Amino acid sequence: MYVGVDYYPEHWPKTRWATDAKLMKAAGFNVVRLAEFAWVKMEPEEGRFDFRWLDEALSVLHKQGISAILGTPTAAMPAWVARKYPETLAMQLDGQRITWGVRKNNCFSAGAYRLLSQRITKAMAQHFAANPAVIGWQTDNEFGSPQCYCDNCKGTWQDWLKAKYGSLDEVNRAWGTHFWGHKVQTWGEIHMPADMHAHNPSLCLDWKRFWSWQNVRFQHDQTVILRRECPRHFITHNLMGFAPDVNYFDLSADLDHASWDNYPSLGGAEAYDPAASADLMRGVKGKNFWIMEQTAGPHGWGSYTRNPRPGEMRKQFFQQVGHGADGFLWFRWRSCTVGREQYWHGLLGHDGKAFRRYREAAQTAKDFHKVGKELAGTTVKAEAAMFYDYDSVWAFDIQPAYNGWNFFGANASANRYQEAVKRYHRALFRAGVNVDLVRPGQDLSGYKLVLAPHQYVMPDPLAQQLSDYVRQGGVLLCDSRTGVKDATGLCHERTLPGLLSRAFGIRIEEYEALHEGVSYATQSKTSGLPGAYQAVQTCDWITPEKAETLLAYKDWHLKGLAAVTQNKFGRGQGFYVGANFQEDAFYDHLVAGLLKAARIQPLVVPPAGVEATARQGANGTLLFLINHTEEPKAVKVPAGKVDLLTGKKTAATLQLGIYGVAILKI
Ligand code: GAL
Ligand code: ZN
Repeated sequence: MYVGVDYYPEHWPKTRWATDAKLMKAAGFNVVRLAEFAWVKMEPEEGRFDFRWLDEALSVLHKQGISAILGTPTAAMPAWVARKYPETLAMQLDGQRITWGVRKNNCFSAGAYRLLSQRITKAMAQHFAANPAVIGWQTDNEFGSPQCYCDNCKGTWQDWLKAKYGSLDEVNRAWGTHFWGHKVQTWGEIHMPADMHAHNPSLCLDWKRFWSWQNVRFQHDQTVILRRECPRHFITHNLMGFAPDVNYFDLSADLDHASWDNYPSLGGAEAYDPAASADLMRGVKGKNFWIMEQTAGPHGWGSYTRNPRPGEMRKQFFQQVGHGADGFLWFRWRSCTVGREQYWHGLLGHDGKAFRRYREAAQTAKDFHKVGKELAGTTVKAEAAMFYDYDSVWAFDIQPAYNGWNFFGANASANRYQEAVKRYHRALFRAGVNVDLVRPGQDLSGYKLVLAPHQYVMPDPLAQQLSDYVRQGGVLLCDSRTGVKDATGLCHERTLPGLLSRAFGIRIEEYEALHEGVSYATQSKTSGLPGAYQAVQTCDWITPEKAETLLAYKDWHLKGLAAVTQNKFGRGQGFYVGANFQEDAFYDHLVAGLLKAARIQPLVVPPAGVEATARQGANGTLLFLINHTEEPKAVKVPAGKVDLLTGKKTAATLQLGIYGVAILKI
C-alpha cells in the first residue's frame, strides 16, 4: 500500500530536502511523484541532460524509505522548444498559435514534439532504470486539451480517416455527405470541423475520436520506450474522472493501472461525484487504481476554495480506497511561494511547518497501513454494471438533444450522457450498491443488472448483445435516446428502440424534448413506483406492445402511452424509462425495483449522507462506511464484526461521527 505526496524538490533549496523527507517518513509516507514539470531542469538545452539534482533528491528520499514515481515532463515544454520549433505550439481555430507560458500548449502531431518527447523519455528511462528509489512512471500530465488546428494535424486527420475508411466513397457514405452537397472528392478536401454544433455530426464524431487517438498515440510513443528500458517499473497516467476529451479506455490500454486526480469540490454534500469518478477510473482497466493527486488544502489558481475541515481529507481518502484505490498521493506536499499555483495549498503551508493538515494526513496514512494487509488483493466486485460510452458522450456534445439550449444546441453546458449516467448511478450510490462502469461491448455475463442509459450511439452488434443479455436472464435498463444512431453517427432507419424493441416489448413512434419549465405529470400503475413524478427534458411516446406499463403520462394528448415499462423477455427483463424525472425519489424507487428483479441485495442500507462500498478478496469482504456529513450518523450493520480501524466489534448499530469512517470485516 503506497501513500504519499506530489513533491517538487526543484521548488525548494536543497538544504530543505532532508527536512521534507524526514517529515514525510514521520507521517508514514512511502511514495512521492516527482519531476512531471521539470523538463527544462533535466534538459536545459537540446540534447544536454542533467539529472544530478534528481539523483540527489531521490537519494535523500530513499534514505527515508520513500519510493518515487517519475513523470515524463512533456505537459510543459521548455521555452527553448517553443523558440526553436514554433510548430510544436498548438494552433488555435483563429490560426494563432497558443502563447507559450502556461502548459499543455503542444500540438500532438508535430514531428519535432514527438521526437523531443521520445528523447527526453528515453534519456530519463535509461538514467533511472536501475535507481532503487524508482518504482514507476506517470506519462505526461492529464492528457486532453488543447485541440490543434495546424496543417500538420489536418494532414494527420486525413491520414487517420484514410486508414479507417480506406476510400473516399466510404467516408462519404459514413458521414452522409449527400446532405448540403458536402461530398468530398479528394482527401485534401476534408476539413477540420470548426464548430461542433454546426458541422456534419458524423464528421464531428470522427474528429473527437481522432483527437482522442492523437493523445493515445503520443502516450504510446513514451510507453514503448518505458517498457523497453524499465521493465521492472509500472506505468500509469493521471486521468481526470469524467473529463470528456480522451477515451480513457483506449488511453489506459497502454498502462499497468489507471490513476486519477481527485479535487472534490469542498463544501457540503458533494461527496457523490468522486464516487462516480472512482467507479469509472476502476472501470477503465477493470482493476484497482491509484489516486495521483488529491486535495490537500484550499485550492485555486486565483481565488480558492474553503479549507478541508477536520476529518474531511481522511474520509475523502477512504472513500477512494472503498472504491478500489491502492495507492494514494496528496497534491501537494508544500504550498508553493511562486507561480500560478501559489494558492493550490499543500499539506504544509508556505511556511513549511507541519500543522493540522499534515497531522491529519499522517493519521490517515497510519490508518491505511493498519488495514493494508487486509486490503491487499481485494477489489470491488459489483453485481451491477453501467455503460460508460465515449461515443455517446461526444455525440451528445455535438447534438445535446434537449434542455438549456437554443435549437442549435450551442448553449448546452453539461453533457446529457454524463448527466444520465449519474442520475442512475447516484441512486445506486444512495442504495449502497457497488457498480462497475464498463465499456460497451465488454462481456456482461458476470453481471445480474446492466444499466445503459442514453446509449445514443448503438451499433447493431451492441444492440444484439444487449438483447441476448436479457434473453439469457439479465436485467437491463435503457432510457430515452437509446439506439438512435449507428457507429458513424447516422440515424438508424428503424422504429425506436430498434433492435431492442423485443427485449423491451415496446415501440416508440414519436418523441420530443421538453423546454425548461415544461413537464408532464405521470400516474403510477404499480406499487413499485408509488409517486406522481414529473417527466422533464426528454419524452418518448411509448406504445407498450408486450410490456407492462409502470408509469403513464396524464396529459390528454399522451393517453394510452407509457412513460416507464417493464418487460419479460426470454429468461430476463427489460426496463425502459422514456423520460427524465425531476424527483430523486423516482430513481430510488426505480432502482429498488431493478435490484429486486436482479436479486441484488446491498450489505447495508446506508442512511442519507453515509456511503457504503465493499471490497472483496479471498479472506472475505471489507465493508466501508463513510459519513460524508457534519453530523453523527447511526448505521444498522451486521453485529459482531470487527471495525479494522478501531479493533472494536460492532453492535447492531454503528455510530459514525462527523466525517467518520469504519471498515468492517464481514
Ligand atoms: C492538476 C494538475 C496538477 C496541478 C493541479 C492544481 O490538474 O495535474 O499539476 O496543476 O491540477 O492546479
Ligand atoms: Zn497541430
